[in-house]
Amino acid sequence: VTQPMRSLTVEEYTKAFKSFLNTSTEHQCMEQFNKEELPNIVASLGNGRSTINVLGVGSGTGEQDLNMIRLIQAKHPGILINNEVIEPNPQHILTYKDAVRNSSDLKNVSFTWHQLTSMEYEKQARAQNIQKKFDFIHLIQVHYKLVKLHSLASDDAVRWILIGNSGWASIWRKYRHCLPPTDSGHYITSDDIEPILKDMGLNYQVYNFPSTWDITECFIDGDTIGGHTLDFLTGTKDFMNTAPHDLKQCLRQALCQPECSTKKDGRIVFRNDLSMIVISS
Ligand SMILES: C[S@@+](CC[C@H](N)C(=O)[O-])C[C@H]1O[C@@H](n2cnc3c(N)ncnc32)[C@H](O)[C@@H]1O
Repeated sequence: VTQPMRSLTVEEYTKAFKSFLNTSTEHQCMEQFNKEELPNIVASLGNGRSTINVLGVGSGTGEQDLNMIRLIQAKHPGILINNEVIEPNPQHILTYKDAVRNSSDLKNVSFTWHQLTSMEYEKQARAQNIQKKFDFIHLIQVHYKLVKLHSLASDDAVRWILIGNSGWASIWRKYRHCLPPTDSGHYITSDDIEPILKDMGLNYQVYNFPSTWDITECFIDGDTIGGHTLDFLTGTKDFMNTAPHDLKQCLRQALCQPECSTKKDGRIVFRNDLSMIVISS
């Protein structure tokens, strides 16, 4: 009996994301951004204050967060860093805590973990009338409504959002009819965020990085990697086996269009271009 289609749970999304990281150049792009741009961006943090408050939203297991903290430490030697983390997955928090425990270079950094979704965190902060403001807020590949976090930012805060564009934008805009219904928030790209930031009158800069994602296997029925690829792309559990034949065919055809992918050495390579949106005050 075919299972009905359904959205990925948080755990399933994480598994699909890992597979995506293994087959895309996403983290290489982040490394490049961390090396070339982020040091200058974090140099202005805190504006001379003795403590820098950092908020990570959807931090996962913390590798990227710790890279950023090390960059802040390098630019502001000896400064106190209060790092707060919003992450709903308890397993991720445990792994993050282990990474902190096993690092000897995180002196002067305090960690507070909130095992919550961003919405739950906002609700809690409002209910408890928490006035804390953050100097640096980052959202790295987290799909949800981000605008509300504005109220948590200090006057001179920097916010960094990493989000997919290009292939993602065209598949979600032009070929939406080929995608299954899923939680709202999954189908967001930088093209959706920029008008909101403009409306809010915020200053921001977008750094675009070309990135690729090998999706060849998602054209092979029964392939495990291909299955994870389709799950991450659609936000659907076991899309390969639960989607109706027509929907699967429509999606595969859409993925082959030049605005979504290119062919190289017999492989099908998705345009995973990334936008790093850095919002200043
Ligand atoms: C794609 S992973 C990104 C992890 C990390 N930022 C990175 O780039 O390696 C998305 C993370 O967001 C978390 N997440 C999912 N829904 C969330 C929500 N509503 N609020 C905050 N975090 C969420 C997931 O548990 C997961 O750890």
